[in-house]
Order: sequence, then structure tokens, then C-alpha cells
Amino acid sequence: MMHLGVNIDHVATLRQARLTQYPCPIEAAKMCLEAGADGITAHLREDRRHIQDQDMETLAAMARAGELHLNMEMAATDEMVAIACRLKPQAVCLVPEKREELTTEGGLDVLGHVSRFKDVVAKLHDAGCAVSMFIDPSEQQIQASKDIGAPVIELHTGHFANWDGAKQQAELLRIQQGAKLAAHLGLVVHAGHGLTLQNTPVMVNVAEIEGLNIGHAIIADAVFKGLKQATLDFKALMRRS
Ligand code: PXP
Repeated sequence: MMHLGVNIDHVATLRQARLTQYPCPIEAAKMCLEAGADGITAHLREDRRHIQDQDMETLAAMARAGELHLNMEMAATDEMVAIACRLKPQAVCLVPEKREELTTEGGLDVLGHVSRFKDVVAKLHDAGCAVSMFIDPSEQQIQASKDIGAPVIELHTGHFANWDGAKQQAELLRIQQGAKLAAHLGLVVHAGHGLTLQNTPVMVNVAEIEGLNIGHAIIADAVFKGLKQATLDFKALMRRS
């Protein structure tokens, strides 16, 4: 069955909005694993807007203890490469990162930075991390990912998720064809970004995709799946007090 990696960044976003100790992304990770998630994804951004260094330290220690499979998302900067080489998560997903963006907006330009990515992938590989390149479903970027020695790609599904009608169908076809090409080249194929309960079924039906990374929709759904109970708990407490 296809693997599910849950991205817990958005729990940290809520915590950082108030600079409180809660909600704790580590507790969220444990709950997702209890519910059957196959792995945890967390993005340590340059601006530390959500996941903090200590979160990543804790997740990596849990990963080293065999308690979870950790996929560390990061930009291919010297700082992040040094952190990943020290923490040694089982997987690293390289993503483009811009300070002004709300979330990752598109795939990496692997083709345009072949020697840099080759060097970064080799360093992370030596540290024992399976490196994945987050790319748009373009033939050239898939081939370039293969050429630089990355064993995994994650196809960016954000455009597919945001568009509709014929444009969305054309993007789905690109994802399907890209997944086929990548598998043919011997790459492991993952996909993610913008996936919801509504648009995930078509991705599950792409045979070559082995894993999906999903965050925002799971945390957003969790708000409504838990809001009633949270309110009931406060009312019960106030009645008792
Ligand atoms: N995969 C990658 C590489 C991402 O950058 C993100 C967003 O952090 C996701 C998957 C998850 O996207 P979403 O939060 O929209 O489900």
C-alpha cells in the first residue's frame, strides 16, 4: 500500500503564532503514527517560521531510536546540509525556499544547478540519508534528478491541486507520465503538496507513486474533527469549577 508521510509543520505554525509550548508537533507526530502514518515530514526553514531546531533534534533522536521514519524537508543550503549530516534523518527532501512565500511554491530547478545538487546529494548520501528532489513533473527535471544521483523524487502536486478543469487534467497527465518515466529510470516516486481528501484518490491510483506527503489538509481537517470535543471539555470544566 502507498505510504503516508504526515507533515507536522502546521502544528508548529500554530504554536509559533503565540510563542507558547503548545500545540506540540512532537505529540502530533506520535498521534499520527498511532493512527497509522508511515512517516513524519518536517521542514526546517531558514527563517524558522514553524519547526524549530529543537523539534528537529527531537524528531531525529526518535528516528535514530527506531521510533519513526523522519523525512526532513530543507533547502540545499550549507547550514541545512550541515544540520542534516549531523542529525542523519532516514530521508531528506530538498525543496526550493523563498523567504516571502507562504508555502513551497514549485519544484526545484535541478537542471539549472546540476553541480551544486550533485555535491549536496553526495554529502547527504554519505550521512546515510535517502535524498529526494521535490520537482515539477517535467521530463528534464526528472532526468536531471537521476543524473545527479538522487534515488527518490517527490512530484509537486500543488498546481494539480490548485487548478481545475482542463488545466488540472493536463497537469494530472503530466504527473502520471512523469511518475512512469521516473520509475522507468529506477527512481522511487513520491508526491505531495496541496492534497486533500477530495483530490488524493486520483494520486493513489497512480501506480508508480509509492508515497504521499500531506500536511495542511490533515491539520485543517483535524480542527473540525476536534473542535466540538475541545469546546465540550471547556464547558464541562467550567460546570465543575
Ligand atoms: N511535500 C513538500 C515537499 C512540501 O514542501 C510540502 C509542504 O510543506 C508538502 C509535501 C505538504 O504539502 P501540504 O501541506 O500542502 O499538504
